[in-house]
Amino acid sequence: MGIPQPAFYIFKCEQSAPPGMPKPSCVGPNTQDLFQHLAQSLMKKGIIGTVQPIRSACLNRCNAGSVMLVEPGHTMYAGLTKESIDRIIDEHIIGGNVVKEFVIPDELWDAPIMPADMMKQMGR
Ligand code: FES
Repeated sequence: MGIPQPAFYIFKCEQSAPPGMPKPSCVGPNTQDLFQHLAQSLMKKGIIGTVQPIRSACLNRCNAGSVMLVEPGHTMYAGLTKESIDRIIDEHIIGGNVVKEFVIPDELWDAPIMPADMMKQMGR
């Protein structure tokens, strides 16, 4: 038997705006320890090998607060806190149910456009 691939990847946006920039970002004074909290919670539960937390650059949803993307499933969670991360681990990652109350609003996360369709739209 080979080495099992992870069941989940969790991309946590770790982008911070430079000091003085008015642009919102996912890492600030109140949110700088969320990645550590995510990784430690996965470690404590003994599932860090099969759930891989990734420090990500900007995921292009900066106005939605601290965000993270769960793959597979393409689920974007927004406005993260330590409490919401704990619930996402328990209910989604372990329990298999997306935690709808923390999912980014639909209007900010509409269906994807497949690359081939985008190329057709642009006449390429
Ligand atoms: S800074 Fe996190 S989505 Fe842009």
